[in-house]
Amino acid sequence: MIGPRQLAGIAACVLAALALPASADELEPTGEWSAYDKGKAQLPPMGWNSWNAFYHDVDEEKVLASAAIIVESGLAEAGYRYINIDDGWWLKRDTQTGRMVIRTATFPSAALPDGRTSFRPLTDRLHAMGLKAGIYSDIGRNSCGQTFGHGAANNPAGTQAEREVGLYDHIDRDIRLYFEEWGFDYIKVDGCGIRGMGADNPNVASGIYRQFDPIIDFDSISRTDIPAVQALFGAVGAALERHNPDGDFLYSLCIWGAADVRSWFKDYGNISRTSDDIAPYWGRMLHNLDSASRRELYAQPGNWNDPDMLFVGTGDFGALHPVEARSHFSLWAMINAPLIIGYDLRKASPEQIAILGNRALIALNQDPAGNQAVLAFDSEEIQFFVKTLADENKAVALFNRTAQPLEATLTAKHLKFTDDAEIALTDLWSGESRAFTGAEELTLAPHETRVFLARGTRALPGGMYLSEMPGRINVARDGVIHPEPDPMIHRAIVPWENTRSAGERPRYTGWGGARADASPYGQVLRIADREFTAGLGVLANSRLEVRSGGFGSFSALVGMDDSAAEDDQRIRFEVYGDGTLLAASDWIGFGDPASELKADTNGTEILELVIRTETSTDRPPPATWGDAALMR
Ligand code: GLA
Repeated sequence: MIGPRQLAGIAACVLAALALPASADELEPTGEWSAYDKGKAQLPPMGWNSWNAFYHDVDEEKVLASAAIIVESGLAEAGYRYINIDDGWWLKRDTQTGRMVIRTATFPSAALPDGRTSFRPLTDRLHAMGLKAGIYSDIGRNSCGQTFGHGAANNPAGTQAEREVGLYDHIDRDIRLYFEEWGFDYIKVDGCGIRGMGADNPNVASGIYRQFDPIIDFDSISRTDIPAVQALFGAVGAALERHNPDGDFLYSLCIWGAADVRSWFKDYGNISRTSDDIAPYWGRMLHNLDSASRRELYAQPGNWNDPDMLFVGTGDFGALHPVEARSHFSLWAMINAPLIIGYDLRKASPEQIAILGNRALIALNQDPAGNQAVLAFDSEEIQFFVKTLADENKAVALFNRTAQPLEATLTAKHLKFTDDAEIALTDLWSGESRAFTGAEELTLAPHETRVFLARGTRALPGGMYLSEMPGRINVARDGVIHPEPDPMIHRAIVPWENTRSAGERPRYTGWGGARADASPYGQVLRIADREFTAGLGVLANSRLEVRSGGFGSFSALVGMDDSAAEDDQRIRFEVYGDGTLLAASDWIGFGDPASELKADTNGTEILELVIRTETSTDRPPPATWGDAALMR
């Protein structure tokens, strides 16, 4: 029988489903910014999480010890705020009341005189230290530790029902408990319970856990029920709003790049994992970096790609490997990843604290413009990441992915500066300054990332290329109809599988998504053989929302990109200002020269860039907004 509680839960789900963003088929301009703007994530979150440091072996003493060091070492002052408890805290669900029970053997302060448990004493202590507190749950009935059996000692105990500690069927109750009663400020919602609890899970077969027919198949997008996954995460978002009237929460999605989440998370939450778990190995760091580094247009204030937590301190990023530790940290800072420390800070040396606390690097990550760095040079060996800062200076990271020293030439063009005026560079690790005009030769040590603040003369005076401002762009629709795995991601050995599996094969979808300064398939932007170093590359049947406030006009040279595989389609570019058509191109075919589009955008808050195909197709061609810019 369905009781009133369940009905309330179902109603919440239905309401949440209704509140979901407009259908993905929507090309019509709305005049609105449609990305998720709830929660507090104007800047990427910074903090600490127990998982990479302790895995399931987490306890109150360890959490408070790292929190204390964060305060005493100055890391809190540098911006690290959230202290997040990951998997391993729960004992069971009280099946009489539905209330979660905390493992008091490891969190003794959670024991209340009346026999119940509460994290309020712990969150009060963290808050009194000037910090914020984060908790962990799963969108299914069971956690990752339960699903995959890791950390058995601290997995929930009891009957099948008591072991159901996940949010499924309990969303409203649990979110109310965690935020209203226990005072948390942040939640990471994992997804193992909707992925690995099928009949083939040995613990399901033996009756320890209830069967949940998976709605995520990590290896098959067609066997993944994306709308069902979205509805569950949407319901959690709605509950977070209900139980945080002041809006002070952060919502972290953790489905590891599955279910095409790299494309849609920005409509549902604040941060979202773009890949499977990081591990303290160089190759794994590359894997996680790559899963987020070409998704620069899918992150903006409020929504950030999450390539997983930092592993600075351990393994290839440990005390013996400061170059690698600095690289890992620099890259996460540049791509606006959450800076969540995953280290037992009781073991940290002053040098390691200095890496995590590098104010200049943190300032790049926390720059208010919220522009994820764009790849200005891309290869398997060297990559240049360029990030446009709020003051219009640039930060550039020159990254040597290899174990050999390499020579690199940085040019004014990479920075979108003129090549006839001096460019001043400040090395943000060494503090040294240098200057060059045109091009500069630099040596990169094995695995080194050199990060510079660059000041020069902008190649586009009086305006900004849209590709310099990914933080102002929301890809409302990217034209991808059949999500395909992204082949550009370094394929590392998965440490927990080693070579027992068939290896790391392409798995995260999002291939063909919108790009800054590249075509949807990563090529250089090109219309009828004319190359564009600046521009947006996106499939047709797409709609981009651009925050255009403060700019007076828009211009672009538009056309079908030369990377189009077929030449029998025609496309039309349209520019809308706050929902009104401002400019449109003719129908343009493959090989037609770039066509100029201009629009007066004075007073416009939201510009929408729409590309339509002349005939309906499920293979929309790649198109280029060449030199697309907003002028003051
Ligand atoms: C998943 C997540 C990890 C961690 C573990 C906990 O694997 O991806 O970050 O939270 O679950 O079991």
